[in-house]
Amino acid sequence: MNVVLMGFMGTGKTSVGKRLAERLGYSLVDMDEIIERREGRSIAQIFAEDGEGYFRRLERRVVRELAERDRLVISTGGGVVLDPRNVDDLAASGVAVCLNACPETILDRVAQEGQRPLLERGDKAERIRSILEDRRGHYERVPHQIDTDQLSLEEVVDLILQIDAVQNNCI
Ligand code: S3P
Repeated sequence: MNVVLMGFMGTGKTSVGKRLAERLGYSLVDMDEIIERREGRSIAQIFAEDGEGYFRRLERRVVRELAERDRLVISTGGGVVLDPRNVDDLAASGVAVCLNACPETILDRVAQEGQRPLLERGDKAERIRSILEDRRGHYERVPHQIDTDQLSLEEVVDLILQIDAVQNNCI
């Protein structure tokens, strides 16, 4: 069984993933990091040089590989849900959890950073709102949902550890 974290940029997948992996004694893998390492360049460079379609094909390949593995906490990129096959494959490999946050929280969390190519065009707040809206149906397909706005990192981790399938198969 793997535990897979999905959700929009800035919803805490990486920090929750690190803590969750420690608590479960699992290895943490970050899909964006795998892609950057393989390509030898940053996500921003991949988008700029080869476009989003190219990035999505790399992402799809990494999903297929990770879905075959076991005892991983997988932190996905925010757009992994755009291909429904990714959600299906990752959910079939274990427990898939979507971390949700409102646009204001997301803006707070990503405001200081400049490495998310999809948020760099135009007004950040507007981009967040419109991409979230476009993707809502995709995020809703993820089997487990957690609203993180009012929760600390440790509380989010606790909620994930309380999911029945995690209790029964991972602990
Ligand atoms: C993306 C999210 C990013 C990264 C890429 C595209 C998206 O990952 O994969 O910039 O489409 O939402 P994070 O969610 O880790 O920022």
